[in-house]
Amino acid sequence: MLTNLRMYSFLVVFCGINPSLTSGCNKLHFSGRGNKFYECLLYAGLISPGTTFKEAPNFPQRFSLGLTDLVSRTTASVKELKAYEKRQSVPAFLRKIVECQPRLVCFVSLAIGETVSKAIFCPWAKPKAPRKGKKKDNNASLLPRRRGLRKGALQLSCTGERKAKLPSSEEKSEPSRNLADIQAYLLPFKLRYSEHDVTSGNAAETLFFALPSTSGANSCSYYLADKRQLFVDLHAQLQLIKEGSPDAPNTSDFEVIDITTLRA
Ligand SMILES: *[C@@H]1O[C@H](CO)[C@@H](O)[C@H](O)[C@H]1NC(C)=O
Ligand SMILES: *[C@@H]1O[C@H](CO)[C@@H](O)[C@H](O)[C@H]1NC(C)=O
Repeated sequence: MLTNLRMYSFLVVFCGINPSLTSGCNKLHFSGRGNKFYECLLYAGLISPGTTFKEAPNFPQRFSLGLTDLVSRTTASVKELKAYEKRQSVPAFLRKIVECQPRLVCFVSLAIGETVSKAIFCPWAKPKAPRKGKKKDNNASLLPRRRGLRKGALQLSCTGERKAKLPSSEEKSEPSRNLADIQAYLLPFKLRYSEHDVTSGNAAETLFFALPSTSGANSCSYYLADKRQLFVDLHAQLQLIKEGSPDAPNTSDFEVIDITTLRA
């Protein structure tokens, strides 16, 4: 989707881990079943009401948003990706970002933030999740022990046919009180562009955020209300940065990624 990059001035490039079977097939990022990405964009006002994921290819023109993945290989499950595969994708990914020159990159998974931080030797400790994650696994012994869960239901789950339906977790309407501040999701490095490269509308620097995954398949440690709130906060940060507000994040001591080595 990020072709003819110079045609657009990007505000935010959202980056997932890799295409799922669904999104690999229809070429629409974050379109896997149960993914709440577009819902979060709508909630945060980053796209206009009524916009659907099918319009994603027009997001650069319409909303100055880009969508991409760290790794381009399609897999049924993210677990199929090898650690080295993710690590090796980082330079090409960053070169792509240098071409887009967005104000912000937002990794849509904290794990991607960790992978990229590690790959460029600029470690980042992800903030504490509002609640303990529940690993979804076909291993029956790891199933949540719910009161009132009937024996039959448990047996059904062992066949792998169960619809993972954890109670009320996604239905909470208010964000958690212990949700960390958005600044905790800002990674301690940035890309800086030479004056020569900064044409009107393009950013002089790119900052990186990592937010919890919106995929239906994982990230149970954040309620949907928390994810939405973080997208709202991300939008607010974007506004502050665009306006050059004194309340924008102070990144003066951030590591500057050396793009000359990336370009090599
Ligand atoms: C499944 O649970 C058993 C018993 O707790 C454990 O020994 C085994 O390692 C688990 N398997 C996986 C894949 O987590
Ligand atoms: C940003 O932080 C640095 C030190 O980390 C400080 O010297 C500088 O004054 C701060 N800038 C603003 C605008 O607050």
